[in-house]
Amino acid sequence: MGTPGRLVFWSLLSVVLTQRVKVRNEVTGYVGDEAMLQCLFPASSPDIKVSQVTWMKEMGGKKQNVAVYLPDHKPNFPLDNSGRIRFLNVSLQDATLIIQPLRMSDEGTYVCEFATYPHGNEDGVTTLSILARPTNTAESRKVVVGNTTIPVAVCTSANGKPPAHIKWDAAFDGIYNASEVTNGDGTVTVTSQFNMVPTVEADQQQITCIISQRTLAAPENIPVTLSVLYPPQVTIDGYDDNWYVSRSEAVLRCAAKGNPKPTHYSWSTPSGSLPSTVQVQGDRLVVQSVDVAVNTTFICQVTNSVGTTRVEQTVLVRAQPNMAGAGTTGGIIGGIIAAIVAVAVVATGVLIFRQQQKNRTEQDNEDLDGPPAYKPPPPQKKIEDPEGVSNPPEAENIPLKAAYFEPSIAADPTEPDLPRYHELPTLEDKEPAATRGLSLEDEYLDQINPIYDALSFASGEGAPEQGFIMSRALYV
Ligand SMILES: *[C@@H]1O[C@H](CO)[C@@H](O)[C@H](O)[C@H]1NC(C)=O
Repeated sequence: MGTPGRLVFWSLLSVVLTQRVKVRNEVTGYVGDEAMLQCLFPASSPDIKVSQVTWMKEMGGKKQNVAVYLPDHKPNFPLDNSGRIRFLNVSLQDATLIIQPLRMSDEGTYVCEFATYPHGNEDGVTTLSILARPTNTAESRKVVVGNTTIPVAVCTSANGKPPAHIKWDAAFDGIYNASEVTNGDGTVTVTSQFNMVPTVEADQQQITCIISQRTLAAPENIPVTLSVLYPPQVTIDGYDDNWYVSRSEAVLRCAAKGNPKPTHYSWSTPSGSLPSTVQVQGDRLVVQSVDVAVNTTFICQVTNSVGTTRVEQTVLVRAQPNMAGAGTTGGIIGGIIAAIVAVAVVATGVLIFRQQQKNRTEQDNEDLDGPPAYKPPPPQKKIEDPEGVSNPPEAENIPLKAAYFEPSIAADPTEPDLPRYHELPTLEDKEPAATRGLSLEDEYLDQINPIYDALSFASGEGAPEQGFIMSRALYV
C-alpha cells in the first residue's frame, strides 16, 4: 500500500474556469499521505453573499456531506469527525479541504458547494484518486523441456493502484497475457505469464518483464533467467584413437550438461562390469596402463531428475602406438622427416649445381625446373614409401614421379642422365629404413592425409602387394 510521507501528487489539470468556484479536476495521493482538495470562491462582487460552505462526496449515487461551515458555527465533518478531515482555512471564500492521513476509502468524487445570494448554490467537482505503488516481482518457472506452449515465467505487480501494465521483452517467440485481481483494499494485483515452448536453448536465457504504472517514474524492468529442465546431454571426451598396449594415463571424460546439473556419472561396459585395470574418478575413467582388458566399449550413464542418458565410446587397443594420433611421437617423427627433407633439398641443390657444371645442355632447363616441382615434402616422401616397403634395396634407384603411376619403372636402374633431382628419395629412404623401420613411417604417412591412402592403393594394385599389406596390417 501507499508509503507514508510521500508527497501528494497534484494533477496538472487546469482549474475549471467555467464556474466561479475554483477546484482542481483531480487530486491524487498515496495512502497515509495528505490530500489537499482546493476550493476557492473569490469574491467577485461585494453584492454576492456566501452563507455556507459544504463539501459532499458522491457515494452510491447519493451525496453524503463531508464538511460543513456556517459563519458563527464550528466547522463540522459529518462523514468522519476523527480529525482526519479539516478545512485548510476557516473561511467563506476558501473551502480548501485537507484529508490526512489518506485512506483508500477516501477515493471518490467530491463536490465543493458555496451557498450564495442572490445566485444560489455554486459548486465545483474534484476527483480524489488514491494511488498505491505496486510491489513488482518476476521469476521463472521451472519447466521441463517439451513441445507445447506453457508459462515459463511470471511477473506480478501486486497491490498497485491504478493497475499496472505488464509487457515482456524476449528474444524468443512467446505470448503473454495479464490477469487482474482487485484486492479488498481497492488495490489491484496484476499478473502476467510469459508462455513459450520450452527448449533446451532457452534454458538460462534472459527475458525481461516491463512494468508500467502511474506511480513509477519510469517503467520497471525485471530480468528473469529462464530455467528449462532437460535430461543430461552427454559426450565422452579424451579418446584420441591411440590407446596402445602399455600406454600410461589414458583417460576418458564423460561431459554432461543438463538442468538440473547432473552430478552422478556411472561407467560400465556392455558386459556390465568394468575391467579391473580402470579407475573411476567421478566423471573420469582413468587407465593407468593400457592393456587388452580395456579393448572394449565404455558406457557413461548420467542421470538427473529429468532423465537418464547413456553414451558409448569404443576403445581400440593397438599393439603399437598410432603415429597419426600420438601428438608427441608423431611430432618427433615429423621433425626428423622434415630435417631429412631439408638435407635432401640441399644435397640435391649441390648435385644440380655440379651437374650444371659438367653438362650445360638442354638438361639444364630441367634441372632448374626440378627443385620447385619436388619441394612440397609430403608428396615426395609418400611417393617413395610403397616402393621402399616392398623393395627396400632398390629404393635408392626409384624414380620419384614414376613410382606411383608406373610401378614397373621402379625396377629400372637409375639412368645416368636422369635428372638429378630424382635422387632425392635416395637420401630419405636410407634414413628411415635404417633407423626407425619402414613400417612406422609408412603408417604415419598413410594417416597423415587421406590422399596417401589413395596413392597407396593405386600403387598397391600395380606394384608388389607386400607393401600394401604390411602397412594395413598395422591397423588391425
Ligand atoms: C582390440 O579389438 C579389436 C577388435 O575389436 C582387435 O582387432 C584388436 O586386435 C584388439 N586389440 C588387441 C591389442 O588385442
